[in-house]
Amino acid sequence: MAKQDMIKGIKGVKDILPEETPRWRVIEEAARGAALRYGFQEIRIPIFEVTTLFARSIGATTDIVEKEMYTFADRDGTSLTLRPEGTAGTVRAFIEHNLAADPLPQKYFYLGPMFRHERPQAGRLRQFHQFGVESFGTSDPRADVEVIALLWRFLSDLSLPDLTLEMNSLGTSADRAAYLPALVSFLKQHESRLCANCRRRIETNPLRILDCKVPECRTVTDKAPRLTDHLSAEAQVHFDEVLAGLAVIGIPYQLNHRLVRGLDYYCLTAFEITSTHLGAQNAVGAGGRYDGLVESLGGPSVPAVGFAVGLERVTLMLPEGTASSIGPSIYVAAFGAEGNRAGVLLLEALRRAGFSAQTDYRSTSLKAHLRQADRAACSFAILLGDDEVKRGSGILRNMHSKAQEELSLGDFPTLLKSRVLG
Ligand code: HAM
Repeated sequence: MAKQDMIKGIKGVKDILPEETPRWRVIEEAARGAALRYGFQEIRIPIFEVTTLFARSIGATTDIVEKEMYTFADRDGTSLTLRPEGTAGTVRAFIEHNLAADPLPQKYFYLGPMFRHERPQAGRLRQFHQFGVESFGTSDPRADVEVIALLWRFLSDLSLPDLTLEMNSLGTSADRAAYLPALVSFLKQHESRLCANCRRRIETNPLRILDCKVPECRTVTDKAPRLTDHLSAEAQVHFDEVLAGLAVIGIPYQLNHRLVRGLDYYCLTAFEITSTHLGAQNAVGAGGRYDGLVESLGGPSVPAVGFAVGLERVTLMLPEGTASSIGPSIYVAAFGAEGNRAGVLLLEALRRAGFSAQTDYRSTSLKAHLRQADRAACSFAILLGDDEVKRGSGILRNMHSKAQEELSLGDFPTLLKSRVLG
C-alpha cells in the first residue's frame, strides 16, 4: 500500500502508547485514591447523550456549544453529542435515577474521555481526559472548600510544579442580572477597542469578555465594573467563608476577578488551578458551584459544587521518572523440548501466584533469552534446560548481580515469594 493511503489517527486525538501508560496509571490511581479519601464514589456515565442536555446545561451561547461539540444525527434522526464534559451527564443521571431521594449529600467522581472540537496545541486536544467530582446536596461553603482541597491535594501530591489556585465569586443569578447592565453599558462605550469576538459577545455572553486574552481587550476591561463589587450580602458571606475555610486548612489562593468560566451553569464560587509550566493552556483544573443546574434540568432544587482536571495537562507537568510498577518481573528462559514444556507450566504457575512473568518464545539460546530479559527489565530469570528439568529443578538468576542458584521446580512460586518479594 502506498504510504499516503495509510490510515492515520484524527488530528487532536492521541494514542497513549505503552511507554506513557505507566504515568497515566500513577495519575489515575492518585485521582481514585484522593476521591475515595474525600468520600466520593465512582460514577460511570455514557460518552454520548442527547444534544439538548449539553445545550441546556453548558449554555447555548458558550464556545463549547456554539462551535466545539461533536454532534451527529442518530439513525432515527435524534441529535446526539459526544460529551464535552462530565457535569451535565452526571446531573442527568442524578435526576433520572432519582438519587436525590437517597440521603444527601451525594458525592461522585468520574474519569474518562471528553470531546471538544478545539484547535489542537500542547495541552489542548479534541479527545482529552478528565478526572471530575460533583458534590450534590449542600450549599454549605465547607463543601466548596472540600472539593477545592481535594483538587489541590491531588495535584500537589503528584508534585506538580508552580500551582496557583485562583478564586472568584460569580454571585447569585440575581447579582449577575443586576450587574450585567452596568458591564454591558461600559463595554458598549469602549466597543471600538474590543476584538471582533468580544464585540459579538457584548450581546451574547458579556461576562466572557473579562476572560479574553487579547491585550487591548484586557486593557479595556481592567477598568470595567467588577462583579465582586456587586455581590449581594448572601453571596459575599458565602465567598468570605470559602476563602476563610481555605486559609484554615492552609491552601493558598489568589483572587482573580476575571475568572468567569466558559460554562454557563456556575454561580457563587468559581475557581481554577493554573501552572506557569503549561504555556498558553495554563488551566490544570477548574470548577465551581452550580446550585441551579439540577432544577433547570428538571430535577429537584439541589445545590452542587464540583471540578474537573485535564489529565493530559497533568501528564505534561508530572516530574520525569514518575511511573507505577507492579513489582519485580520474572523471565522464564526455557530450552529444549523438556525445558519448553516445563517453561509453559512454570509461566502459568508464576502468573497464578501473582507474579508478572514473561518469556520470548522465539529465543532458543541462553544468550538470546538473557538479552530479552534485560530488555524487559526483568529482575530475575529462571533458566530451564532439559538437564534441569530431569533433576526437577530450575536455575534462578538475579539479573542485576548475575548470582545463580538451583531451586526445586515445583517450589518456585512459593520460594520466590519468600526469597524475592519477602
Ligand atoms: P472546564 O474548565 O471546561 O470545566 O474543563 C476542566 C479542565 O479540563 C480544564 O481546566 C482543562 O484542564 C481540561 N480541558 C478542557 N478542555 C480541554 C482540551 N480541549 N484539551 C485538554 N484538556 C482540556 C469543566 O469541564 C466542568 N465540567 C468542570 C466542573 C465539574 N465544574 C463543576 N463540576
